[in-house]
Amino acid sequence: MEGISQSRSLWWQRGVIYQIYPRSFADSNADGVGDLLGITSKLDYLSWLGIDAIWLSPIYPSPQLDFGYDITDYTAIHPMFGTLRDFDTLLTEAHQRHIKVILDYVPNHTSDQHPWFQKSRSSLHNPRRDWYIWHDPAPGSGLPNNWLSVFGGPAWTFDKQTGQYYYHAHLPEQPDLNWRHPQVREAMRAILRFWLDRGVDGFRVDALRHLMKDREFRDNPLNRGIGPRRGTFDTLSPLYTTDLPEVHEVMAELRRELDTYGTGGEDRLLIGELYLPINRLVRYYGEGNTGIHLPANFHLITTPWDADKIAQLIIEYEAALPPDSWPNWVLGNHDRSRLASRLGGVQARVAAMLLLTLRGTPTLYYGDELGMRDADIPPEKIQDPVEKNLPGQGLGRDPARTPMQWYATANAGFCPSTVTPWLPVSSDYATVNVTIERANPTSMLSLYRALLTLRHAEPAFSIGDYISIEADEANGHLLTYRRQWQDKSFLIALNIGDEAQTLATFALRGHIVLTTQLDRQGEAVTEELNLQGNEGVIVALQS
Ligand code: GLC
Repeated sequence: MEGISQSRSLWWQRGVIYQIYPRSFADSNADGVGDLLGITSKLDYLSWLGIDAIWLSPIYPSPQLDFGYDITDYTAIHPMFGTLRDFDTLLTEAHQRHIKVILDYVPNHTSDQHPWFQKSRSSLHNPRRDWYIWHDPAPGSGLPNNWLSVFGGPAWTFDKQTGQYYYHAHLPEQPDLNWRHPQVREAMRAILRFWLDRGVDGFRVDALRHLMKDREFRDNPLNRGIGPRRGTFDTLSPLYTTDLPEVHEVMAELRRELDTYGTGGEDRLLIGELYLPINRLVRYYGEGNTGIHLPANFHLITTPWDADKIAQLIIEYEAALPPDSWPNWVLGNHDRSRLASRLGGVQARVAAMLLLTLRGTPTLYYGDELGMRDADIPPEKIQDPVEKNLPGQGLGRDPARTPMQWYATANAGFCPSTVTPWLPVSSDYATVNVTIERANPTSMLSLYRALLTLRHAEPAFSIGDYISIEADEANGHLLTYRRQWQDKSFLIALNIGDEAQTLATFALRGHIVLTTQLDRQGEAVTEELNLQGNEGVIVALQS
């Protein structure tokens, strides 16, 4: 729970990360798809908002079957997004504004169009054959075992030309690399160096838990948990295909590569995409902090939105963190339903206050700062392969990936009105957009900006101690805690329910610095604090 001193803290411990889905942020060349120059043109907005780093979902050449997570060249830029020169411009312009740039790194699989796979599938004896995971057909069905793809159906596809199956944790067009092959490891490390040499500040490592699979190809056991959806990945427990101990060796290797860069090490950041229970998630920090700097903590997305359950989650997570590791929290991303749709608009404000006052690096998802919601996608506009493979199960990711809403004009200013954007713009764009919300002092955007400004002004929120307030001292639907740094202390009280609540402040006195409705600043607090339903309040305590 303890904070750190300002001089010892690193940029990614003090900072806030903002995820950009490049296809949907800003389209500079009027082709209906966002691009790098579009992002560069919005850096002033991001700087105004007050974030410290941007993480870009993949921008590399790709057939775009999984929208960039199927890569054919790891060290180039897809022409749709621009050129390497555009990338360098973005990097320079971002750095001039003190914004770090984090790239998506997809080590688990390539596109089936990648030259490595093209060679690998060309013959049993090609030197690249073992760069991927091939298996002879089994008697009977032919499938080597029961392993399933995250995107539905078997994780094995038969290749007629060479008479073997290859493994893919995701689409058949995303064959998994064989990380037991030393040349694969070296080739993938070289990719890190390519971007680090160019000046990028870190990587978000995609699908990290999938990196190693059982050497003996044992069947995964049935998932006895409640109600797995038929035909989906959840039908089985991925015991032999995810979170294998050898993944930890790989991540330590990646970390060593990063640590050779920057002054004093730890300057470049590794984030890992890991959907895992807390006890297994925290192992990714590595023995003596030699692993991933930030194993992404998605538990605020997956935990029911209830004060007690969130309080328990925070306690459990804080207690599980190994010494000297740094926490992190995420409320939304390009794979999950949007925050404002999951919780509703007013509670999404409370969630924003939680995210930006908790101890640990927060990651924001583009558009959540406006309160963008899941958009309706008409059937003929569906893009996501998950929705196409597993229709109608609510798994499709298009609704959370629609164009960023900049203006109240047609296409929300994402692209010209004469162009059809790759996904439809959400219908609420006339009221939910940057321009309108910037002018409204009580909008969601104004709340995010106020929270970010406060987080930067007061080290208590970024690097200070976290002090939980036990449930029986608080009450009902209230989630309460303190943040403290040197002689500055703040009380955060979040009403997760829709009824008014009163918190006895046990002789603590102070004044309100921010509320989720941005309406009570300066109000004195003595003895008790009254909260409206769905209201969050930050109180500066008198020392
Ligand atoms: C990760 C990405 C997701 C992608 C998958 C396969 O989960 O976040 O968008 O489809 O990996 O690369």
